[in-house]
Amino acid sequence: MLRIDGDIAQNYCPPAPQPPEARLRLFRLLATLKRNPLECWSAEFFREPIARVGLPFTDAFLVHDPAAIRHVLVDNADNYRKDPIQRRILASGLADGLLSVEDARWETQRRMLAPLFARRAVAAFTEAILTAVDRLTARWRSRVPGAAFDVAAEMALLTLDVLALTIFSDGIAGDYDEFRSAMNAYFAVIGRIGALDLLGVPQSVPRPGRARLRRTLDYFEGIIDRIIDTRRRVLAGLPAGEGPSDLLTPLLRALDPSTGQSLSLAEVRSNILTFLSAGHETTANALSWSIFLLSQSPDWRYRVREEAARELAGPVEGLTDRLVVTRAVVEEALRLYPPIAALSRMTKDADTLGGVAVKPRSLIVIAPYVLHRHLLLWEQPNAFDPARFMPARRGTIGRFAYLPFGIGPRICIGASFALQEATIALAALMQRFDIMLSPDAKVWPLQKITLRPESGLPMRVTPRDCGERPVLHE
Ligand code: HEM
Repeated sequence: MLRIDGDIAQNYCPPAPQPPEARLRLFRLLATLKRNPLECWSAEFFREPIARVGLPFTDAFLVHDPAAIRHVLVDNADNYRKDPIQRRILASGLADGLLSVEDARWETQRRMLAPLFARRAVAAFTEAILTAVDRLTARWRSRVPGAAFDVAAEMALLTLDVLALTIFSDGIAGDYDEFRSAMNAYFAVIGRIGALDLLGVPQSVPRPGRARLRRTLDYFEGIIDRIIDTRRRVLAGLPAGEGPSDLLTPLLRALDPSTGQSLSLAEVRSNILTFLSAGHETTANALSWSIFLLSQSPDWRYRVREEAARELAGPVEGLTDRLVVTRAVVEEALRLYPPIAALSRMTKDADTLGGVAVKPRSLIVIAPYVLHRHLLLWEQPNAFDPARFMPARRGTIGRFAYLPFGIGPRICIGASFALQEATIALAALMQRFDIMLSPDAKVWPLQKITLRPESGLPMRVTPRDCGERPVLHE
């Protein structure tokens, strides 16, 4: 059922695992966690506000009650710390960056880095986003019209390009393709949560893939150190307000207001790696799922194109705010397929959560994937309905019912950046191309660090001529 004026193709529910009625038993749970954690969630978790799961060494609480989420992530956040599994993933290369540090060190870094991602600072990234989209456009136009290729892989290229342009406006030293493949190898190794980690086996016990990870990291750190070194020399010769306008300049110049200290080399390097890791696949997945969902929904495709034709022709300033429909599509894609499908914490001291006693060292899991499809919180939770995020209805969504970027002190620092990037890129790509799923494509969500299409997105891409505005930045 299609309605251009109204809200949705009411009954389009995009692919998602059918939750099993009964909870998985331990061995099946471990095997499923390894293969695709998304398939572990049984029906009960989508109905219950809080559920307790006994694990061999600890209790786990699956918390999807807005008041309890507020307690964990905001009101009593000091008592709920990032847990050891996350720490293991973050330990490699990101240890000194904002995502990993805790306590006073986190507070200092967050204060120093916040201005880099403030709304005004982020608005200045629009040019870089449009440049990267134009490069992608040129590449797609050079292909045979209607050719099928993996659009998810292309979105990963696009978001890496945007990050490269916004972090290092003067480019990545060395070979870009080599940098990318080293980065993919890095994600492949850190993405493996093994049974050893889940069972709490100490980190001193060797894990497979460690040596490869070290080599990949050494390669990265070498490139990044060279870039930092060159930039430091450039900035040393310039007055304080001058220098390339990107993230690296303020990162090197940021001073802790209380001590006047700048970030150490390890912290600058780790934060660059953090921005690349945290901002690359997440935003690429948001875009991929948005494109996929639009390929299944002619009415929303029409509305996005109509808006893109009107707004992309206007001034660059304020563009994201004017792309209201496109942004609603991105937000709905982030609801159905949140790139960070689960957040976890570990309790420090005993506490009570929604009337349930929680012991110290309990694992708390808040899964945006479950929360965003929870039967107590959403109407038609599994249906694609961007109208939920249009101004008329946006206010009815609870503050703790929709958390693609987390909430509280550790909320994603790059949220405005990511939303702006995904919205502008989606509008421009939908205006310039017809992007339709290949008839034999099987689309399935897989949680592997981020929530991505399991076999990519094989899609047929054809340039559109009518109503298209010329490429802006060739
Ligand atoms: C659609 C894209 C994105 C999604 C869905 C996303 C999601 C998240 C989530 C859920 C958290 C909180 C984790 C927790 O509480 O345990 C987070 C934190 C973070 N994100 Fe993002 N993110 C995205 C894009 C970005 C971008 C573009 C950047 C930077 C360039 C970024 C940098 C960070 C950093 C540094 C943190 C840690 C903040 C802190 O602990 O103070 N993210 N992100």
